[in-house]
Amino acid sequence: VGPRFVQVALEPPYRIAIGSGVLSTAIAAAGGATGIALIADARAAELHAHRIQAPSGLPRLDLPAGEAAKELAVLGRALDFLAQSGLDRSSCVLVLGGGAACDLGALAASLYMRGIAVVLCPTTLLAQVDASVGGKTAINTAWGKNLAGTFHQPRAVIADVDTLSTLDEEDYRSGLGEVAKCAVLGGEQAFRNLEESADALLARHPDALQDTVAACVALKARIVASDERESGPRKQLNLGHTFAHAIERVAGYGAIPHGIAVACGLSLAAETSRACGLLADPATIERLRALLARLGLPADLAALRRRHALEPDALLRSMRSDKKNRAARIRLVLPRTLGAVEHDVEVDDGVLLRVLA
Ligand SMILES: NC(=O)c1ccc[n+]([C@@H]2O[C@H](COP(=O)([O-])OP(=O)(O)OC[C@H]3O[C@@H](n4cnc5c(N)ncnc54)[C@H](O)[C@@H]3O)[C@@H](O)[C@H]2O)c1
Ligand SMILES: [Zn+2]
Repeated sequence: VGPRFVQVALEPPYRIAIGSGVLSTAIAAAGGATGIALIADARAAELHAHRIQAPSGLPRLDLPAGEAAKELAVLGRALDFLAQSGLDRSSCVLVLGGGAACDLGALAASLYMRGIAVVLCPTTLLAQVDASVGGKTAINTAWGKNLAGTFHQPRAVIADVDTLSTLDEEDYRSGLGEVAKCAVLGGEQAFRNLEESADALLARHPDALQDTVAACVALKARIVASDERESGPRKQLNLGHTFAHAIERVAGYGAIPHGIAVACGLSLAAETSRACGLLADPATIERLRALLARLGLPADLAALRRRHALEPDALLRSMRSDKKNRAARIRLVLPRTLGAVEHDVEVDDGVLLRVLA
């Protein structure tokens, strides 16, 4: 099967290519730029930069792997690198790597000469289904994750599923957590598709990956196009995330990969929805848990508590300080059913403590 394409209907519109071998089109996607420079996660570059088939002499900056790339000092180095590479306003930055590299590289592109073009080449499952779509860029500061960033839509996104074969098992499963979120948001058919492709996905079969990434990207592209700056519909993408952020924080950052915490957050959101009387069909919870377990993801807090101390009180305290809560009360995105969520639902502490226990 050939590659799939998803159009993002923003101004200007751009295209996301998903498939096996599509990295060889990355240079062409930069489309007549006066200059091109590559900013890459060091590990992803070592394993996959050759797939770009770049002309020799393409300037390249290697970033420290993972979250260490999202620092102000690294941003400074990236801006210097773009200048040293002679890029001007009509040039294009190519970014290769996971969500961290994409966030850093796109931020640098958005700042350099007040913003130049960027083509994102995500190489983790999480970055392909989530971080490379939607135009958010960020670095972390001492005060918190993603505290400094911009909105800067890419010129194109090239998601080559062949790159996913080298991901560590934990990073791969983290991506599957966001895939599960997309299935809940996508509705009955999307959820069934994931149930049916679970085994092929665990085997990282390229066709299954292409279909799954394309489905997630299409969902996110549609939501983002309707709400570029997150004033309404885009909030549904935070399903499971208030729980997940608390889990990540209480376990100690880095101890539990983001998407794995999101998986647990999905099941906690469904539980909370049932406790609030919002969930249309309680059987949805069992179905969700069964799917998460099949994907090797935690289906509840008990699964994570085998290795991490996650006390209900500590989780609740952390949820209360989540940046999405405007008042003291905790506001959550909760599922009503597959394909329909409610956002800004205020939930009592008592209900949450019972769910977290
Ligand atoms: N901008 C957004 O909308 C958005 C959305 C979701 C997440 N994010 C951000 O994304 C980041 C997480 O992204 P991530 O999960 O991709 O993690 P990551 O970028 O930290 O990459 C995880 C690890 O995988 C390695 N790696 C990358 N590609 C590889 C490959 N093909 N083979 C082997 N190893 C490879 C990296 O070196 C790193 O060690 C977070 O910083 C998060 O804030 C941003
Ligand atoms: Zn997420």
